[in-house]
Amino acid sequence: MRAVVYKGPFEVAVEQVEDPRIQHPNDVIVRVTSTAICGSDLHMYEGRTAAEPGIVFGHENLGVIEETGDGVTSLSSGDRVVMPFNVACGFCRNCTAGLTGFCLTVNPGFAGGAYGYVAMGPYVGGQAEYVRVPSADFNCLKLPEGTEKETDFVLLADIFPTGYHGNELADVRPGESVAVYGGGPVGLMAAYSAMLRGASKVFVVDRVAERLQKAEEIGAVPINFTEGSAVDQIREQTGGEGTDKGIDAVGYQAQAHGEDREEPATVLNQLVETVRPTGALGVPGLYVPRDPGGPDDQAKQGMLVVAVGRLFEKGLRMGTGQCNVKRYNRQLRDLIIEGRATPSFVVSHELPLDQASTAYEKFDKRIEGYTKVVLHPHA
Ligand SMILES: NC(=O)c1ccc[n+]([C@@H]2O[C@H](COP(=O)([O-])OP(=O)(O)OC[C@H]3O[C@@H](n4cnc5c(N)ncnc54)[C@H](O)[C@@H]3O)[C@@H](O)[C@H]2O)c1
Ligand SMILES: [Zn+2]
Ligand SMILES: [Zn+2]
Repeated sequence: MRAVVYKGPFEVAVEQVEDPRIQHPNDVIVRVTSTAICGSDLHMYEGRTAAEPGIVFGHENLGVIEETGDGVTSLSSGDRVVMPFNVACGFCRNCTAGLTGFCLTVNPGFAGGAYGYVAMGPYVGGQAEYVRVPSADFNCLKLPEGTEKETDFVLLADIFPTGYHGNELADVRPGESVAVYGGGPVGLMAAYSAMLRGASKVFVVDRVAERLQKAEEIGAVPINFTEGSAVDQIREQTGGEGTDKGIDAVGYQAQAHGEDREEPATVLNQLVETVRPTGALGVPGLYVPRDPGGPDDQAKQGMLVVAVGRLFEKGLRMGTGQCNVKRYNRQLRDLIIEGRATPSFVVSHELPLDQASTAYEKFDKRIEGYTKVVLHPHA
């Protein structure tokens, strides 16, 4: 079959790879009809990780079941399903507590598994014609038959639940104000989810015009951090107080404000200043234990200079980590089915798999409006 293969820094290619096959009675093989490129894929694409050439990318996968193992009980060939990016067992201590992003058995030595991701286990990615889904009764979410709302449903694999998770980590409640740093797919989904949860005022901070425009279209207040301090701009619009809650949807690739260089702790520190005393921060943006490309020796060891003193002084709470997709995906699916959520506004491009190389390049440069790309392997 054809798949998106990592060749080395800033290079992917669509190549022939081995077809996946059933390896365990609870596996299924899914014929992938939609698979999205993620900001997390860019970390590997840019050569910032230990990802070796040859890895097949793709953890945001939707398709139709082609083949089921003998032990599969709740799924049949022909079912349309979307898979959480987390590969999880369903029976370990963390899975039974709903913390499927931290499954203890699918990737021993590291909490949590995922498809097509460095250090996240042996699960081949789904930017391909087919993908193997382990523990399929647990790791598939059934969708209505047909092809309707495909671009909404594919976002249930990661970014819609992840944006929602940012709100859960920050404990966003009705009537509260929320500052979201990052207007990428995760940030836009975090802002959208904040509104679904009844936030009164939502700010989205970025510098990419198309992304700020999408934020405005969904009713958020766009804040361009190249036009002056984001903290000051948000404070001015919250009576000088700052917001109740804040979400980091940028992670360690944060751009320094006012200068053209990376400054990994920038967003964390800006959030500490943006959120009012006793508020809370949700951090779905990714931070890593090691960043070989980090700007200094400490950053290379994953150690960042964060204003912990201010965090404590203000009595701020902070939640971090991978999204436990399964915790929210059924409910978010039903909002889509009932027409109460339409997350696909974030999708800027739908392309055949063969155009993956260009799509990665443009999404990575954040040019030509590339905000979220969905690939269709059988188009
Ligand atoms: N926790 C999870 O489970 C999970 C899941 C998916 C993605 N992620 C992470 O979420 C983050 C965002 O993902 P994405 O797909 O939206 O990526 P993205 O790279 O497309 O978006 C990041 C956005 O942040 C903006 N940005 C950069 N520096 C900034 C700053 N200082 N202030 C404000 N905005 C700034 C960029 O212009 C960009 O638009 C990444 O770190 C990704 O790895 C986490
Ligand atoms: Zn993703
Ligand atoms: Zn588990």
